[in-house]
Amino acid sequence: MTQKQVWMILCLWAGLMATQATAQSTADYQVVPLPQEINEEQGQPFLLTTKTVIAYPDGGAQMAQNAAFLSEYIHEQTGMELKTKAKDGKNAIVLRINADNEKPEGYTIKVDNQGVLITGGSAAGVFYGIQTLRKSLPVQPVASVKLPAVSIQDAPRFGYRGMMLDVARHMFSVDEIKTYIDMLALHNINNFHWHLSEDQGWRIEIKKYPRLTEIGSQRKETVIGRNSGVYDGQPYGGFYTQEEIKDVVEYARKRYINVIPEIDMPGHMLAALAAYPELGCTGGPYEVWTQWGISDDVLCVGNDNTLNFVKDVLNEVMDLFPSEFIHIGGDECPKARWKECDKCQARIKEHGLEADEAHSAEERLQSYFISYAEKVVNDRGRRMIGWDEILEGGLAPNATVMSWRGMSGGIQAAQMGHDVVMTPNSHVYFDHYQSTDVARDPLAIGGYSPLSNVYNFEPVPAKLKPEQQKHILGAQANLWTEYVPVFSHAQFMVLPRMAALCEVQWMQPENKDYDAFLGRLLNLIEIYKTQGYNYAKHIYDIEASYTPNAKDETIDVHLKALTNSPIYYTVDGTAPVKHSPVYKDVLKINKDASISARTYFDDGASRVLRENIVFSQATTKPIEALQPVDKQYSFKGISTLVDGLQGNDNYRTGRWIAFRRNDLEAVIDMKRPSSIKEASINTNVVKGDWIFDVREFSVQVSDDGIAYRTVATRSYPSLSQNDADGIKTHTLKFEPVQARYVKVIAVPEKEMPAWHGGKGHPAYLFVDEIVLK
Ligand code: ACM
Ligand code: ZN
Repeated sequence: MTQKQVWMILCLWAGLMATQATAQSTADYQVVPLPQEINEEQGQPFLLTTKTVIAYPDGGAQMAQNAAFLSEYIHEQTGMELKTKAKDGKNAIVLRINADNEKPEGYTIKVDNQGVLITGGSAAGVFYGIQTLRKSLPVQPVASVKLPAVSIQDAPRFGYRGMMLDVARHMFSVDEIKTYIDMLALHNINNFHWHLSEDQGWRIEIKKYPRLTEIGSQRKETVIGRNSGVYDGQPYGGFYTQEEIKDVVEYARKRYINVIPEIDMPGHMLAALAAYPELGCTGGPYEVWTQWGISDDVLCVGNDNTLNFVKDVLNEVMDLFPSEFIHIGGDECPKARWKECDKCQARIKEHGLEADEAHSAEERLQSYFISYAEKVVNDRGRRMIGWDEILEGGLAPNATVMSWRGMSGGIQAAQMGHDVVMTPNSHVYFDHYQSTDVARDPLAIGGYSPLSNVYNFEPVPAKLKPEQQKHILGAQANLWTEYVPVFSHAQFMVLPRMAALCEVQWMQPENKDYDAFLGRLLNLIEIYKTQGYNYAKHIYDIEASYTPNAKDETIDVHLKALTNSPIYYTVDGTAPVKHSPVYKDVLKINKDASISARTYFDDGASRVLRENIVFSQATTKPIEALQPVDKQYSFKGISTLVDGLQGNDNYRTGRWIAFRRNDLEAVIDMKRPSSIKEASINTNVVKGDWIFDVREFSVQVSDDGIAYRTVATRSYPSLSQNDADGIKTHTLKFEPVQARYVKVIAVPEKEMPAWHGGKGHPAYLFVDEIVLK
């Protein structure tokens, strides 16, 4: 039995009891996303009971469907069964369309003692009004609900509100896809971007090319973890038939969600090449990829058959998907094969695609290919959208750009007058970790994008001029599924981050407020529960901040819970329980401590927060940076190095700070002459992300803070390709010295070596804790 079925049985049972039950509850209009205007009105509330009807006097299939949705939602949440009818009525929730509303997706809700009136600018607007009403209702079996008199006016900020799902790395059933669409509808999202093809699997039936699914949808096994070299030995595969696709598109349409198909090309095509090797530059053989990453084998653009293949596939795709936007991918296409391929080189010659200052010949070949795909799409009256790499080599004339490598691709496209959807990996990559406690979260690709980070995403760059800003159609989040094998895990990755996303997409920025959002979110989570959605519980974790207090020579620890329930803590590593001390305002830590804390909720306890604070002579001492910390990775700044905390191997958690071009050059004021004989720093090396190790580390001391003398120094060789990534400790030992001031200098790699993709560029140096003994 699913959670949803259990809930329905509970509701049925509650329904049976309702003959005696008089349980009443009051509606709360503070929902996610928060409507633009909520005006409490004078007058009596409306009492919603099972006698209330849902009326749709405008008639029509869409409004009948809207009424049926509302009836179903109310039943699922409260157990009350309301009838629907295609006429006006008293004691009713009336659904109407007001075509005068300039915003088709806008709506108003009016509640007085006679009833509820939801008026939408279109049937879609009515649907969003219905979503707001259902989210305002309680989630518990009741016999009636009091709806305070109110007038609500609302409309979305952005016309494009998207959410992507990759079904190629891992696949989900049609029923699961429908559940995903329900989740989107609950968050007022109106575009489902369906990523249907990849190196690791082709997932859409194409009648003209049957081997795409016969061969391309199956991989013989899957790598374990992050390309560990170890494989699970389990064949994996599947695809959606054209009938299933139509069924999904129709299911989404009823919920006012457009489905944008993505066929990712000319890279990420290994599954198609395994099926039709003649479409690749080398002719193969190829196999559907069993690991993650970016394959050098891509479509051969010099081959006419490839172009015909693209045209045929896109045409079948457009037969299935009425979407105006058709996504052709375009990301991460290495040019290695094209450089060596006679056909590709002949195509370059044929079209005079010469290298210029901005682009290589092969980049211009990519642009030639994307423009070809665009013409196929435009010929059917559709619009092409692609990832921001389609800017390389010159943008196709009518292309819309999906900016994922940060915002800069989107900014560039908008400046050129092209439309843009913002989906930067800095904020809305839902395959990234959502907590810093990565050891206790399921394995993820990396990154760090907690709920607050998603919430703080602003899709419209201030540096664009107003007329350029109009090109930002909206925002989207993406779930890539290399590390997401099953659907409940997908739900865990996107919920509740999708709630934060939907406030970014729907609300005017000046109305956003993270703390208030968290309060509203608790009601939305009750709906997640009735629907049986799995969701991440990190919001229930204790939030802690650790601030070095130089005056008191303490680390000041502040703890915060989502609700007002007491926080129990210990500082000796033992588990906090209900008779442990209760946190009041601040914990002042002045020696090594192992902090644990938790709180309790109605239906459980938070995870236990655990943190070790380790004191050295440097901890809490005043510290000054003589060269600036890298802006992007400065977090709380230089005091991070004397806060007694250690970073884990995720460099984005705020425990590490970075230096690039500049050195770490910091002076610690010991506050009194102190004896030291050892200094160490930790570094975190992730070569693939341009993060290298230290090249030189030295320690100087001074009595007056003016004249320094070097007490120890060491140089390190440049990293080679085979040096391991990870956390490194660098220690300098020397004859004990007495000093008031200690200067620590650590020099980053100024030019990455020739074997590295970023050769010649400066690397980042990520540093944590300075330890002085
Ligand atoms: C992408 O994340 N490769 C679009
Ligand atoms: Zn080729």
